[in-house]
Amino acid sequence: MDWLKAHKNDTILIAVLLILGGALALFLLLTRQTGGTARVQVDGETVMELPLGRDAQVELGEDGHANLLVIENGTAQVTRAVKAVTTKPVYIKLSPNVTDIVPIARACEEAGADGLSLINTLLGMRIDLRSRKPVIANRMGGYSGEGIFPVALRMVYQVYKAVKIPLIGMGGVKSAEDVIEMMLAGASAVQVGTMNLIDPWACEKIIGDLPRVMEQYQIRSLSEIIGGAHHG
Ligand SMILES: Cc1cc2nc3c(=O)[nH]c(=O)nc-3n(C[C@H](O)[C@H](O)[C@H](O)COP(=O)(O)O)c2cc1C
Repeated sequence: MDWLKAHKNDTILIAVLLILGGALALFLLLTRQTGGTARVQVDGETVMELPLGRDAQVELGEDGHANLLVIENGTAQVTRAVKAVTTKPVYIKLSPNVTDIVPIARACEEAGADGLSLINTLLGMRIDLRSRKPVIANRMGGYSGEGIFPVALRMVYQVYKAVKIPLIGMGGVKSAEDVIEMMLAGASAVQVGTMNLIDPWACEKIIGDLPRVMEQYQIRSLSEIIGGAHHG
């Protein structure tokens, strides 16, 4: 926090509100108990209040996760609530665990989202052959990393066609080539998650590799290739 305060003029801070998953159940419980308002605090200071209301729609999945952002009404409701209490740009992060991500993306845009980031983890599971039981206590959990890249790319491609707001693409990105592919699908910016856990220098390497890979594919500027796979 001290570091952030010292660098507040030369750093872009993106705050992430965790509203999918177990935290959402707690969040909605608090919302109901505080008369329909949830407060987000950073370093003891209230930075945001979300008047979601007592009637916030929520569905509890089999894994115990509270899914609000997987239904159009829920997404629009969260987007409007956040937009009503901040002048900062609001990007809504989308779950891939849906039948069709496009109407949900459109609902966010119509409710005033400034951009979208996608995708979150895919719900997955493994079973231990010896115990014949799920390997994680929660039975199911978020699946991320290299294996989800084609799914993430497909969703970024679909959503780019459906909305006008910018997209941050993520899901299995591990190389400069993947960054370029994500941008061709429609991402204006790209995030790297799991790869950092495998190699803490992954981002530095990807950024370092980009000029060489751009040259290899005759790309003069990254902004020129956003959505490039949709043309022609
Ligand atoms: C250990 C771990 C923790 C995560 N925590 C969050 C989180 O708190 N909020 C969130 O929106 N996404 C969270 N994610 C999802 C990632 O931000 C990302 O959307 C997803 O993992 C796909 O990208 P990746 O394959 O590059 O990791 C988490 C992922 C992992 C692996």
